This record gives sequence, C-alpha cells and structure tokens, in this order.
Amino acid sequence: MIREARVFADTALLTRAVADESQRIALDAVLANGRCSICLSGGTTPKSLNELWARDYMTRMPWKKIHLFWGDERYVSYDDERSNYRMARETLLSRVSVPPGNIHPMPTGLANPDEAAIAYEKTLREYFGDRPEFDLLFLGIGVEGHTASLFPDSPALAETQRAVVAVEAPAEPPRRLTLTYPMLNRSRYIFFLAEGAKKREIISEIRREPESAASRYPAARIRSAGRLIWFLDQAAAW
Ligand code: 6PG
Repeated sequence: MIREARVFADTALLTRAVADESQRIALDAVLANGRCSICLSGGTTPKSLNELWARDYMTRMPWKKIHLFWGDERYVSYDDERSNYRMARETLLSRVSVPPGNIHPMPTGLANPDEAAIAYEKTLREYFGDRPEFDLLFLGIGVEGHTASLFPDSPALAETQRAVVAVEAPAEPPRRLTLTYPMLNRSRYIFFLAEGAKKREIISEIRREPESAASRYPAARIRSAGRLIWFLDQAAAW
C-alpha cells in the first residue's frame, strides 16, 4: 500500500522537490523548537539530494540548528567506501555548516555491533529524552524490499522495544546497525526516496498489496505516526 506518492520526470526535479519540502520542515521545526532532527538514509540514492543541499541550500537550510542522525550503518570504518557516514561526509557534511556536535553518526569502532547499538540508543535518548521523534526521516528501498538495514525475514523486524539493533544482513557488508520500527515510525515526516527502473517492480508490488496485509517487504511495514510520502522518479513509478 502506498498512500501518498509524488512522481517526477527525473532526478533533478525529484531532488528539488525533496529539498524544498525539507527546507519547509526544518524551518518550521527550528521556529517551533529551536532545532531540527533529520535522520539520513544510506545507499546511493541520497547522494543527489546531498549535493543539491550543498550547492543551493547552504543558506536556505538552518544547518547550524540541524542535528543529523542515521537510520542504519554498515559496521565498517568511517573511511571505508561502504560507510554511509563517509558518503554523507563527502557529499554533504564537508560542505555545509552543521556544527560537529550536531552530527550523530552510528558508532562503528566499538568492540562489536551489539555494543554500538546500545551506545547509539543512548545517543538517541540523550537527544530526545523519553519521547523520540525525528522531524524528518529519510528511507530508501532495496529491490527485495528492505529499508534501512531491515531485510526480509530478519529477527529485527519483530523488535518492539529497542530503538537500535545489530543485524547480520544478506548483503555486503553483513554486519550492520539499524533503527527498528519503534524508532523509525516515530517521525513527524518520513520521506521514501526511490529512483530508477530497478526499483519499479518492488514499488509496484508494494503498491498492489492491501493495506491490512502484513507485508513480507520491510519497507511496506513502516507505519509512520506522522506523514509518509514516497518520492519517485518516473522510472521507478508504476
Ligand atoms: C543502506 C541503506 C539502504 C538503502 C537501500 C537503497 O545502508 O544500504 O540504508 O536501506 O537505502 O539499499 O539503496 P540505493 O539508494 O543505493 O538503491
């Protein structure tokens, strides 16, 4: 089930629309609360948005009042080319003025991923207190329906208490950290970004599912307490 989707002719139009919506949300959050929390997704799709933010939104986004978090991370060094944090550092963080103390990457240098998951849960609690709620959360989708690092048939899909868990993903690299549904769903806005023909089939599958079905696709099981919008280019749309 896809309740709200916006389809754009190409990547440039899609990222411009996402950037403008993000600006509106961020400015509203800063006006209301003095700060804005944005949770970034990994993979390659966010690169074009990051580059647009860095090029055209240096002064339009309240970067100094924005706190950045991650929805998932590969358990590799921040200098590893597979690191989601590295991708954000290269395409965004090195080019906009988010204060270093406002950048909250998932730790990948602790003794093991389980310890890192516990540490990140503490980071979230220190920022949000006991009522976590991102102002804006970005998610992508894999061709088999995963989102963040929640993959089909993973035990992490059944997690109802913890906000962050370590998982063994059926993808390279397997060791990962991911937010769980209890945390992902607590967002005022959730933007799914999907582009390209390779995403068309999974998007169509999810669109055809009845809402009541307990989907086998983790991305389809996101139930936002706020507003969930899919941003698609024409190639990925049905
Ligand atoms: C990750 C992501 C993952 C990603 C999808 C889509 O760490 O890989 O968080 O959930 O969003 O796999 O990836 P692409 O944008 O590269 O298609």
